[in-house]
Amino acid sequence: MFGMEALEEIRRLKREKGALLLAHNYQLPEVQDAADFVGDSLELSLRAAETDARLLVFAGVRFMGETAALFGKRVLLPRPPGELGCDLADSVRPEEVVAWKEKNPNGIAVAYVNTEARVKAVSDYVCTSANCADVVRALPDVPMLVFPDENLASYVRALTGKDVRSWHGSCRVHAGMDVASVKKALELHPGAEALVHPECPAAGDFFGSRRVNVASTGGMIKFVASSRASDFVVCTERDMAYRLKRVFPTKTFIPLSEAAVCPFMKKITLNDVLASLRLGLYPVVLEEDVAEAAKRAILRTFDLLGTPIEVKSSARRGEKMSCLSYFRFSLVPSIGPTLQNGANSCGQGRALHRFFYPLSFNRRSGKGKRRKGETS
Ligand code: 13P
Ligand code: SF4
Repeated sequence: MFGMEALEEIRRLKREKGALLLAHNYQLPEVQDAADFVGDSLELSLRAAETDARLLVFAGVRFMGETAALFGKRVLLPRPPGELGCDLADSVRPEEVVAWKEKNPNGIAVAYVNTEARVKAVSDYVCTSANCADVVRALPDVPMLVFPDENLASYVRALTGKDVRSWHGSCRVHAGMDVASVKKALELHPGAEALVHPECPAAGDFFGSRRVNVASTGGMIKFVASSRASDFVVCTERDMAYRLKRVFPTKTFIPLSEAAVCPFMKKITLNDVLASLRLGLYPVVLEEDVAEAAKRAILRTFDLLGTPIEVKSSARRGEKMSCLSYFRFSLVPSIGPTLQNGANSCGQGRALHRFFYPLSFNRRSGKGKRRKGETS
């Protein structure tokens, strides 16, 4: 089945099965068009946690589908999970994180969302590119391993001035996007501004630049909405330019490189989504103890930041899984723009964290005093 016919059948099956189709910003254009919600890693996790839908079909890589499944939802990946790896996510194993924590007993392990659930389960906090700097700022002044992406870690170190240690992972799509290539693109397009993902090695080199904005893919959309420029060089996966064009049809988006294609995201076609809905393929299955521990690390992070979240679990309806009052997503200013301007807008998050983890650390001295059962 092709085009409109497939799209119609997907819509019908979604209605019949009470399903929601979530797609990452790097998905193929036709998959983005079929989705109920398109977003970055953070937005997709929040949407997965908050939705009432009985079934989620997740068009994204495996670690993203796993994260959605942590919130008690039935999640289908449109391709076999083994095909939807991400080599950045695969560059760190749980035992390596445990070994780092043993060597650094006062240290805090902040896993990037681009890690498998078993790695999140042994980590203290879980960040995305949208909130990593806010997470690091809100934590005490102790060594922090921000892993596995070394470029994100360098960027956040430069932005926060904190003792951020890095791992040796990087993303093949972003690794070549260095300062020289961004400068060259800006010379070629003198009226344009650049949107740079924090996974690019260039991210930390443009502080103070009026023409360069570092942001997650969701943050890029927020930035363009607030910019008067009409042309933008998009320094991330190629199809982010498609996503931006859909939201801002009158503006121009130029991918930094047409070759910047994520081979893992692009494995999913519209027909895969259709087959997934029709046949219930391929359910994300997680070991219960791994899922519980990984979810704890994520909820601890939401609490730290005061990120509004009401976890609606179809498995355990009504259960309040986050300790937070249920603020609405749109009211919280901690996402996106703070990566640009360096301001920490998370006073509310810090207060809440002190409230819920009063003994976990002394913020003034930064000396760790762990709560029983806390991994940090
Ligand atoms: P975002 O969270 O910015 O969408 O990034 C996800 C990702 O995989 C980047 O390579
Ligand atoms: Fe992984 Fe990079 Fe693809 Fe993102 S763009 S899913 S980090 S390989």
